[in-house]
Amino acid sequence: MPIETTASVVTDLPAAAELLAVPYSHDLTPSRALDLPMPVADLLAHYEAKGEPGEIVEVPVARQGGVGRVLLYGVGDGSPHALRKAAAALTRKVKGRAELVVVVPDGDAAAFTEAALLAAYSFRIGAPGKAPVRALKLVGADEPSVRRARSVAQAVALARDLANTPSSVKNPAWLAERAAEQGVPARIWDEEQLQAGGFGGILAVGRGSVSPPRLIQLSYTPAEPADRHVVLVGKGITFDSGGLSLKPTENMKTQKTDMAGGAVVIAVLGALASLGAPVRVTGLIAAAENMPSGTAQRPSDVITHYGGRTVEVLNTDAEGRLVLADALAYADAELDPDMVVDVATLTGAITVALGRNVGAVYSTDDTLARQLVDAGQVSDDRLWRMPLIDDYAPALESSLADLSNVEAGSTFGAGSITAALFLREFAGKRPWAHLDIAGVGRSTVDEGVLSKGATGFGVRVLLEWLTRP
Ligand code: BES
Ligand code: MN
Ligand code: ZN
Repeated sequence: MPIETTASVVTDLPAAAELLAVPYSHDLTPSRALDLPMPVADLLAHYEAKGEPGEIVEVPVARQGGVGRVLLYGVGDGSPHALRKAAAALTRKVKGRAELVVVVPDGDAAAFTEAALLAAYSFRIGAPGKAPVRALKLVGADEPSVRRARSVAQAVALARDLANTPSSVKNPAWLAERAAEQGVPARIWDEEQLQAGGFGGILAVGRGSVSPPRLIQLSYTPAEPADRHVVLVGKGITFDSGGLSLKPTENMKTQKTDMAGGAVVIAVLGALASLGAPVRVTGLIAAAENMPSGTAQRPSDVITHYGGRTVEVLNTDAEGRLVLADALAYADAELDPDMVVDVATLTGAITVALGRNVGAVYSTDDTLARQLVDAGQVSDDRLWRMPLIDDYAPALESSLADLSNVEAGSTFGAGSITAALFLREFAGKRPWAHLDIAGVGRSTVDEGVLSKGATGFGVRVLLEWLTRP
């Protein structure tokens, strides 16, 4: 479900708006124009307002025939991070209302608007919940910022929708159909074509399911000739039961979102044109359903990846790296990119390391790592750089194949790092980065810009990075 709340720019403060939000920081000298019962400073002092972002002081005001409300809201230090928090709180506060007129604070109007819209996102099947505010009227925002915010927020909403969709609906073929609707050229490999192409990792993971796997390629070409070509690779496991290395129920019930990385790639490719991204971008989504059955791959099977490398599969639940390996090897061999970034809900271990608010970035290239961390800071999809520790590479040695997909023993640990080291083997010599979003891909709370379930983490940071000049 796209975000239904609209955001539009209004140039003047409408007289006698019934529901009006004004930042504490706003110049309120003509505060009588708001019909407040007393000066703002006195009101804030009375309510012991601290000015923190997210804080809202509600003041009743006389309106013709009734009572209106002015929401005085804190903006903290006015940073984009603080403005996002303030905006999300406002949207949540006025749930169910027709319209909120907002005097936007000084600073990043795009960040403010984007967060206001994202806080209106919800995903429901069946009876709708309380509707979000229908219209946001932004006083003092500039049109380009609001347009950008709309595109970014709708892309995040699409990524969330795809990941929130139950796996009874979204098999790999369904995901390919959604990808092909994004307004950019799409190429889709079905099972036979994957076979013919030698995509042994994607096929091995998909073997246990009645819904066959797909590889999806989306291509964005900017209007002006570009000097950079970026490949984005997304993990598209439409359900991860673990395969024969079956997960326990508690861990399995969240695994419909195991295609969150693929959803991010689809949503990003769909939004690049409206944001005028100046780079060429190819998206690859390696889609499969990881199921146990009589046809499933077994722990101890040896598979052959795209390009010929062999892998001993010691744990069928380490399936993300198997599908990604094919896509990475294909990108390196066939697409000639300047850099490759993959996005994947890859390991439970990264949640232990970084928790639910910060994603991991691994990279073989310092400049690329720095750019992504910076873009994460600006866009609020925060990333922390993790190390590719070469000393741990022996964890993936196999006695009969080129590599094993997990450590046979437990000498090294470091589950997220060894997974990244595995992927590095297939990325070639080009600058490569890997985002492990297993911790940040889902939210357990309805709070701020997040809603329970899929977060769309990765869309904002990648769009920020790809739309820089
Ligand atoms: N999809 C999971 C990772 C995951 C876990 C995502 C929790 C979101 C929430 C992945 O395929 C997986 O099962 N990883 C294993 C790897 C292990 C078998 C080496 C894990 O993290 O336990
Ligand atoms: Mn798994
Ligand atoms: Zn998985």
